[in-house]
Amino acid sequence: MNAPVVLQVAATSAAPALVLRPWRMADVAALVEVSRDPGLRQWASSAVDNDADGARWVRAQQQGWAAGDRFGFAVLAAQPGSGRGQLMGNVVLKEVAHGKPAAEVGYWTAAHARGTGVAPRALEALTNWAFDTFEADGLERLELLHQVDNLASCQVAQKSRYDFDSVLPAAPPSFPLDGHLHIRRSSA
Ligand SMILES: CC(C)(COP(=O)(O)OP(=O)(O)OC[C@H]1O[C@@H](n2cnc3c(N)ncnc32)[C@H](O)[C@@H]1OP(=O)(O)O)[C@@H](O)C(=O)NCCC(=O)NCCS
Repeated sequence: MNAPVVLQVAATSAAPALVLRPWRMADVAALVEVSRDPGLRQWASSAVDNDADGARWVRAQQQGWAAGDRFGFAVLAAQPGSGRGQLMGNVVLKEVAHGKPAAEVGYWTAAHARGTGVAPRALEALTNWAFDTFEADGLERLELLHQVDNLASCQVAQKSRYDFDSVLPAAPPSFPLDGHLHIRRSSA
């Protein structure tokens, strides 16, 4: 992918338009700020406590783009003519490989922006982009996993038409409780 991918999400009556674009080093300060939230840390796979952690995390996203197997987008409140809107969240397409029928999606929303549909709206844009970009490469379905007690995430899955598929057994220590697997197919 030569030019950076930028996805646009229209405003609603209750929420501003969104811009999704690859993470940049300039996002580190905002990332560290939103990562202080215990509600986010509870579900994050790696803690971002300071600028060094934030830079490492952004570098990992950039390496994913370069390798073509993980595509992390910063979700920003749109500011026409600028890539510098307020950080609202993250969506990611991961586990992508040539000829592989399944990939996985993930997301989080900054605490200040929760409850306004940021995650489902950004996920819809990511989902459409993923199928548009990788269907010719064999992508048939996107998987969304969450722990059973993450009800907000289950709501996002349902609103985004990721149908419930099955219960995943707990896998401590990372996943002490059972999980849900939701799936959206390219034909849906
Ligand atoms: C799960 C999460 C991404 C939802 O993002 P969001 O942008 O707030 O999504 P929505 O606005 O659609 O809200 C989803 C649900 O969150 C709950 N919610 C609403 N307002 C909320 C608030 N202020 N704070 C927390 N949760 C709220 C509601 O149950 C809502 O569902 P409903 O609209 O059907 O009532 C967000 O809560 C989050 O980042 N949680 C921590 C990280 C995480 O769990 N990531 C997913 C791991 S699988």
